[in-house]
Amino acid sequence: HFAPKKEQLLGGEKIVITAGPTRENIDPVRFFSNRSTGKMGYALAQAAKDLGADVTLISGPTNLTPPTGVTFVEVESAANMLDAVMNVFNDASVVIKSAAVADYHPKVTFGQKMKKKDGDLAIEMERTTDILKTLGQKKDGQLLVGFAAETEHVEEYAMKKLQTKNADLIVANNVSTEGAGFGGDTNIVTLFYKDGHHQDLPLLSKKDVSERIMNEVVNLLKERSK
Ligand code: CTP
Ligand code: CA
Repeated sequence: HFAPKKEQLLGGEKIVITAGPTRENIDPVRFFSNRSTGKMGYALAQAAKDLGADVTLISGPTNLTPPTGVTFVEVESAANMLDAVMNVFNDASVVIKSAAVADYHPKVTFGQKMKKKDGDLAIEMERTTDILKTLGQKKDGQLLVGFAAETEHVEEYAMKKLQTKNADLIVANNVSTEGAGFGGDTNIVTLFYKDGHHQDLPLLSKKDVSERIMNEVVNLLKERSK
């Protein structure tokens, strides 16, 4: 009995990874978005590819080049991302939601550029669909990995996300900590599991964090097939 080679650990697994911010248009020249750069999600796509997975990377607007050999789907809004994920969900064995999906979008998107008027402006926003929560309700054997971007009460909020979204693993980061979160090349994350335990990882490059997360995916898939 031989241990599988590294490049075969995820052989045959279809892994969907979402990355980057979403962009919610208010008119043809303006949008709402967030500070996500996509680095974490693209690093995860590379790490999954390196372990032999069949990877689909669904990404909001970033400046990054997708890893070679992954299927790349470019999206803009949270609604586009939901559609793209649902198109591939049934065939997927793992979905990793590292994208920073907008929670709200403008209730009305104007077809023409808004002209300024005297006085202040209030823009009415409505909730987007929670993609991960939707997947959690529909899942049929898929392993779901979510992220939690927090600035306080990380453990409490991350455990709550694990439960309400019916995820198998939540990767939490305190995005206000130096070295963690949006934009940089490093991250400090804690992995929260369904049985209530958690594992703190040290400050690592996003590449190393991705490899650790993919190792956990390998372990969780192994446990599942027991
Ligand atoms: N997420 C999603 N669809 C949304 C919002 C979030 O799929 N419309 C996913 C993210 O991709 C991430 C997880 O949910 O994997 C947690 O995102 P986060 O913004 O940290 O949490 P929320 O549930 O949106 O709650 P809040 O922003 O209030 O902390
Ligand atoms: Ca959110």
